[in-house]
Amino acid sequence: EKSGYDHFMLKEIHEQPTSIQNTFAGKLMELEGTVRMNELYLNPEQIKHLRRATIVACGTSWNAGILGKYLFEKLAGIHTDIETASEFRYGNPVLCGEELTIAITQSGETADTLAAVRSSKSYGCRTVAITNVVGSTITRESDSIVYTRAGPEIGVAATKTFTAQLITLYMLAIHMGRTRGVITADEAKDLIVNLKRLPGQIQRILNRKEKIKECAQQFADKRDYFFIGRYLNYPVALEGALKLKEISYIHAEGYAAGELKHGPLALITEETPVVAIATKGHTYDKILSNIKEVKARNAVVIAVANEDDKEIEKYADMVLRIPASHEMTSPVLSSVVLQLLAYYTALAKDCSIDKPRNLAKSVTVE
Ligand code: M6R
Repeated sequence: EKSGYDHFMLKEIHEQPTSIQNTFAGKLMELEGTVRMNELYLNPEQIKHLRRATIVACGTSWNAGILGKYLFEKLAGIHTDIETASEFRYGNPVLCGEELTIAITQSGETADTLAAVRSSKSYGCRTVAITNVVGSTITRESDSIVYTRAGPEIGVAATKTFTAQLITLYMLAIHMGRTRGVITADEAKDLIVNLKRLPGQIQRILNRKEKIKECAQQFADKRDYFFIGRYLNYPVALEGALKLKEISYIHAEGYAAGELKHGPLALITEETPVVAIATKGHTYDKILSNIKEVKARNAVVIAVANEDDKEIEKYADMVLRIPASHEMTSPVLSSVVLQLLAYYTALAKDCSIDKPRNLAKSVTVE
């Protein structure tokens, strides 16, 4: 069943070149610069008049939702909030009918996410569910259902379903951005071309996984890890930290890099590896400054950077490379690197990778 892999998690990481292709199959209209989203029961007028979107999710799906917020704001010009479903349901959300709630849930069964959708509906919001499981509870509760089509995921740690969620969010954002006239056909085409390149680029990362394995082994005995990133790489940092803590039991924090000096910098010593997502984009120089900041506290810096980036070698102790991609789409590639880093760290520590202690694949109780 594991098709020769030692763990389901490793198998599922390796399935990503294919699962991503399944996620976007038949949807990317490269020549027209549009994305076909027939499953979205929102007509163009409704999309144009959307005032706000709220994304609700838990765990890894919540991390995907942060990227979703940035994409909807940048590509579709829709003010977007992202809320942890368990907080949303007991808060006092101010919602009205011209708004959209987007629930992201791999299993479609997470109790808090289901409750958040029910609560949004009671305010008259339209609801969209992004889920991987056909016929799951969320599909009976939402107006529109967008399937991520990543195939069944057995490992408790979400991997291929996370990247499928990201791809779905790109497609939704491009679709809404074109409908609202926020991005041009050429801008959409550029993104679509970059999305289509991702499967091959992920394969390239997988083919060179030995370097990631060596890096993981080198730091597997550490007690604490930091992951830092800015803007689109911030959710990548959060997800990298979540993966590491859940399967290797190493304490890991994901931080918006600019927040470091507001407290956590006090924890950085030569014993704390810091993973910095330093891919090319408009926050590149800023993350370099953050790397210098932690280097000054003697931290070991592992950078995730582009293949052609020579400069980064001056700052980082170790560099894990990803192929060049659009600033908006590179988070998918960086995430795969961090999945492998977590996997090989847990392997070096002989942890129960597919069934980490205390965790369940779907959390059906609140
Ligand atoms: O099925 P869901 O996406 O609603 O699950 C939400 C979280 O429980 C889930 O993403 C969890 O954080 C992951 N298994 C972590 O890898």
